[in-house]
Amino acid sequence: MQASAPPARIFTRRAGRIPAQKSSPRQRRRGITHNVNREIGMAEAAKKGSSSRDAGKGQSSNQPATRESLIQGLQEDLAREYKAIIQYIIFSQKVDTARFMSIAQELQVHAHQELDHALKIARQLDYLGAYPVHEPARVQVSDDNEEMLWIDLRAEDDTIRHYRTRIRQAESLGEYALAETLQEIIKQEQDHQIELAAALGVVPDDSQRQGQGPKQKKG
Ligand SMILES: [Fe+2]
Ligand SMILES: [Fe+2]
Repeated sequence: MQASAPPARIFTRRAGRIPAQKSSPRQRRRGITHNVNREIGMAEAAKKGSSSRDAGKGQSSNQPATRESLIQGLQEDLAREYKAIIQYIIFSQKVDTARFMSIAQELQVHAHQELDHALKIARQLDYLGAYPVHEPARVQVSDDNEEMLWIDLRAEDDTIRHYRTRIRQAESLGEYALAETLQEIIKQEQDHQIELAAALGVVPDDSQRQGQGPKQKKG
C-alpha cells in the first residue's frame, strides 16, 4: 500500500507546527475535512490489507523508514487495536464452555489493555501531527469457542509482527520515546499471545505452529 498520507504537519493542532500560510476558517475546515477523508481511505486500506503477507508492506526492513511510512504504519496499528477491542468484548461474553472459562475472564482484561494501547497510539499520532483513523481493521467473529480463541491468537501474532516493524522504524528515525511506548505495548501483546496459546494448548511462537488450528477464512 502506497503512503497516501499528506504531509504530517497539515493535521497538526499544536502551536508552532501549523503551516504559516493564511487561510480563512472555512478554508481551514475544508483542508482538515479533505485530509481526514484521506485518512479514512488509509483506514479502509488497513481493513483490506492487514494480512501477514502484507505486513510491513512499504515499510519492510529493507526500505529506509520515513516519517510518512511510520505514520501510515501507526494508523494501521490503531485500526488493529480498535479491531482487537471489539473482538475481545464479544468473545469475552461468547466463550462459554467450562474448558475456556478462565480465559474468558482474561479476555475482558485484554479488552481494557487494547483500549489503553489504542489511546497510546492515537496520542503518538497526534504528537506526529496526524489525525488518528476512526475505523477498525476487519473484525472476525465466530460462534465456536475454540475458533474464537484462534482468531484472537492469530490477531495477536499479526499485531506483534507489525509492532516489531514499527519499533525498528521508530528507532531508525530517532523517535526513541515512541519506540519505548511500543516496547511496552508489544510486551502486553506477547502476554496476550501466551495466554491464548496456553488456553488452546499450543506454543506461543507462531513460527512453530504453522498449519495448526482452524483454516483461516479469506476476506
Ligand atoms: Fe493492543
Ligand atoms: Fe493484544
